[in-house]
Amino acid sequence: MNLSKSFLILGALYLLVGLSFGIYMGAAQEFDLAPVHAHINLLGFTLMTLFGIVYRIIPGLADTMLAKVHFWLFQIGAFLLLVLLFALLSHMGPEATLGPLMGVVEVVVLLSIVAFLINLWQRA
Ligand code: HEM
Repeated sequence: MNLSKSFLILGALYLLVGLSFGIYMGAAQEFDLAPVHAHINLLGFTLMTLFGIVYRIIPGLADTMLAKVHFWLFQIGAFLLLVLLFALLSHMGPEATLGPLMGVVEVVVLLSIVAFLINLWQRA
């Protein structure tokens, strides 16, 4: 698996979704979900593209177990975070359930960044 390419391709896919969402918001004059649009673009595109570039330019950084842990925790965490943010802002479920779930997912994203940091510390 080419970690850098995976981050870059997934980032571009998220950008496609994020921009489409932005165009829909503008056309419909419906801005309640603007934070979802922003986080699709920022977590999905900006961060993943940065990760893809970092793994491309630092030799050996992508070959470690920590890099795989970073990739998978980030993919799972970022996706669930966006789904939960959408659900919360659309009032699709009880906030008492979605709120704590969001907390768990945020920790998953945070742990992925801890793996990234340790990997950078050891290899960069
Ligand atoms: C085709 C491209 C895009 C369109 C049509 C678009 C559209 C929009 C719209 C309609 C809003 C809501 C404005 C309002 O609340 O008054 C918005 C907010 C925002 N957008 Fe975009 N956007 C685009 C690209 C991007 C990109 C590439 C990023 C970041 C990488 C981004 C980040 C944000 C942020 C941070 C906000 C503020 C969210 C908030 O207020 O909670 N947008 N965008």
